[in-house]
Amino acid sequence: MSTQIPQETETETETDVEQESSQARRVSAERTRAGMDQRAEDELSDADETVELKVFRYDPEVEGKKEPRFDSFEVPFTKGMTVLDALIFARDHFDSSLTFRHSCRQAICGSDALFVNGSQRLGCKTQMADLEWPVRVEPLPHAEVVKDLVVDMEHFYDQMESVEPYFQTEELPSGELDEQRQDRANREEIKMSTRCIWCGACMSSCNVAAGDNEYLGPAAINKAYRFAMDDREGEDMTEHRLNIIEQEHGVWRCQTQFSCTEVCPKDIPLTEHIQELKREAVKSNLKFW
Ligand code: SF4
Ligand code: FES
Repeated sequence: MSTQIPQETETETETDVEQESSQARRVSAERTRAGMDQRAEDELSDADETVELKVFRYDPEVEGKKEPRFDSFEVPFTKGMTVLDALIFARDHFDSSLTFRHSCRQAICGSDALFVNGSQRLGCKTQMADLEWPVRVEPLPHAEVVKDLVVDMEHFYDQMESVEPYFQTEELPSGELDEQRQDRANREEIKMSTRCIWCGACMSSCNVAAGDNEYLGPAAINKAYRFAMDDREGEDMTEHRLNIIEQEHGVWRCQTQFSCTEVCPKDIPLTEHIQELKREAVKSNLKFW
């Protein structure tokens, strides 16, 4: 199911959420507290401050959990706590069935992109102290939800694969151990584009991708940029790459809304790269007789 589906979420505004009755919150908190272990109880009673997490829940395989809902978890707040830390606390102490992806916990693996307080963010990079409380955590919009906060990334990966995201050179260095050198200026040109961690936040934020399932999307186009602008690949390969991004559902679909650039956790100037590729595509198509 898609994150856009739940009726509660579609019709619910932030104001509605704020107005949720205190009784409903208490019932939800009591339900999650029911599974609380002793250590959590101690940590909660020792905590100077607690924060409420409102987490999207959905499990199509369990009767009674098929209907999307939000669960509330009260977690002890500690300085430096990230959204991922809070989720891990909730899972480890309240409900072990709470499902989400994570791995590196240092903004490298890209596995914990979430929709936090209405914006795409990495759970491990987002400080709880920087957010409005209660903190609302949902799966990435515009993707099928597999369970709770886990979305199906298959389509995103397909789009990335379609731009051939690997180095393809026409000329190999002569010596067996010689390196394929790149000059400093060219390295600077592509530097930011190499930082992508395949988290999918940009794709999720893009209105064009939401309306056109075949659109390559900002991450795939950025990946194409990374190689198309690399001088070492040679002219024929660059032309091949420009042909890929010039397709019907390629760069020309971008409406320069900047939503991808705003949410990218690695600060990649995605919109700028897309515009640069548009310019390169036009230049390569210009013919002077
Ligand atoms: S471009 Fe940025 S937001 Fe998009 S997948 Fe890469 S790191 Fe994530
Ligand atoms: S856990 Fe790896 S990027 Fe957040």
